Amino acid sequence: MIMPATITTAPAKTILFGEHAVVYGQPAIAVPVNERQAKVKIFPSIGSQSNDIQFIAPQVAFKQDYSSMDIHHPLRIALDEVKKFLDISDYPACKVHLSSTIPISSGLGSSAAIAVALVKALFNFVGYQASNKIISDLAYKVEVEFHGTPSGIDNTVIAFNQPILYQKNRDFEFISPSGEFTIIIADTGIKGNTKEAVSGVRERWQQNTKQYEEYFVKIGEIVYQAKTALEIGDSNHLGNLMNANQEFLRKIGVSHPSLEKLIEIALQNGGLGAKLCGAGQGGNVIVLSDGKHFESISASLINNGALQTIIMSLAKETHEE
Ligand code: MEV
Repeated sequence: MIMPATITTAPAKTILFGEHAVVYGQPAIAVPVNERQAKVKIFPSIGSQSNDIQFIAPQVAFKQDYSSMDIHHPLRIALDEVKKFLDISDYPACKVHLSSTIPISSGLGSSAAIAVALVKALFNFVGYQASNKIISDLAYKVEVEFHGTPSGIDNTVIAFNQPILYQKNRDFEFISPSGEFTIIIADTGIKGNTKEAVSGVRERWQQNTKQYEEYFVKIGEIVYQAKTALEIGDSNHLGNLMNANQEFLRKIGVSHPSLEKLIEIALQNGGLGAKLCGAGQGGNVIVLSDGKHFESISASLINNGALQTIIMSLAKETHEE
């Protein structure tokens, strides 16, 4: 049977509160960023044998056949997990084309978005309607290969494409912000490495467990307050909570001078709060703005070295520069 071609997308994400502590069981809040997307297209390879699968990612000059891939290759893991879930040994011959507008190593969930879009496309291609939960669970297994000990927040928020409060080994909750929260995401241009950042925190936690546990608990408290502030529309309090969260991210050693510079500029130019987002040590900052100053804050960030900004509203439509 010839399968029709399929195209899927998955959004980027940003963590509003609680990154790193979430790996240690604390809650965190994440939202999808639909201004940036990963995309996967699968085309049937007519006349080829099943399991003859070629992965192509022209943006990074990548081309490889499934059969020649290491069993730990994340793309191979995605396919193997889908086959295992469907209990099939053969997958139809196809070409899998991957692309993305999400900057890599920048805290915006580029690897999880590729994993989610790929798992979704692999299911679609064989005509299986997988739930978001199944897609998220299989994408998590791919994330383990990328990142070692992921909390699961990235694959969850991306697969469900809604703001969530996430806590490991618990049911996550959807969050409905009220009022208007305008967020500016600004790229330092410095690449962060999630695996290294997470394992660095783990080493310091092992050396100084009591202190780090206290930091993580404090971050968890900030997250619960932030959930309430989002739900009641209190942007001034939300901004203060972002600054408080950033203070703990500094203490656990995941900030970076490039992040600190943009945070300072944002706060000097009317930002209500600012922090790094994701793994840190580079990547992006997020800034909370009132509904009036977001364009001037964004311009000041660009004038002070940010590579690009995304302006998004948590409540209503989004814009981008
Ligand atoms: C990465 O986006 C967020 C971290 O908390 C790691 C994780 O949760 O897996 C740094």
